[in-house]
Amino acid sequence: MTRPSFTSISNAEKLIAPSLLAADFACLKSDIQASEAAGVKILHIDVMDGHFVPNLSIGVPIVAGIRGISDQLFDVHLMITNPIKYIAPFVKAGADHITFHIESADDTMETIKEIRKSNVTVGISLKPKTSPELLIPYLDLIDMVLVMTVEPGFGGQSFMNDMMSKVEFLRKRVLDSKKKNMHIQVDGGIDMKTIGTASRAGANIFVAGTSVFKFKDKIQSSALSLLKEACNPNLG
Ligand code: DX5
Ligand code: ZN
Repeated sequence: MTRPSFTSISNAEKLIAPSLLAADFACLKSDIQASEAAGVKILHIDVMDGHFVPNLSIGVPIVAGIRGISDQLFDVHLMITNPIKYIAPFVKAGADHITFHIESADDTMETIKEIRKSNVTVGISLKPKTSPELLIPYLDLIDMVLVMTVEPGFGGQSFMNDMMSKVEFLRKRVLDSKKKNMHIQVDGGIDMKTIGTASRAGANIFVAGTSVFKFKDKIQSSALSLLKEACNPNLG
């Protein structure tokens, strides 16, 4: 079966990407399969090295392990120093997309090229204090921009409303760039109260950890329906 990709998904679509960081690590298989059964196409996987961010999380063997039980698009978010070194191992393990932080790469252009060489899609992420202007030279070359709406490193933090001006700025730029299908992803503090704000600002991929995997009674399908409803308040 062909897995979805960020090139086959249109940026006119609004999609929720549950973040595995908030799943129950004793039950990864059932949490992932429940998300797939609820219609989730994209699984967001947070990789942290205890250096670029003050936390450790998921590494290559976990990605390889869960690849065998899911046909979702594995959206790997590298929060690590020297990301270029780990592209090949993550792609070999089953990543379909790699996002790295512009603040973490010694050579942004080389890192983009290396990801492209591995035949997966490319994203660049911005920490809250980083200006979106820094991305301008790369916008024609990448498939996704990830605007962090919390300081990277931990789940369960509060959404930063003031990041929405970056999303608006980037949405306008997409129209002028050659990559008309570039996606704008937001990550951190996305829940039923904040998703509408991010959607109106122009984001189309919403990473949601706590609000999906830690939803009451762990009923992910209900969490996902509520998020979709809050994302598109004028639909259906
Ligand atoms: C934070 C991670 C996020 C995190 C989001 O550094 O990049 O993906 O899992 O978690 P919530 O949705 O709980 O804010
Ligand atoms: Zn993330």
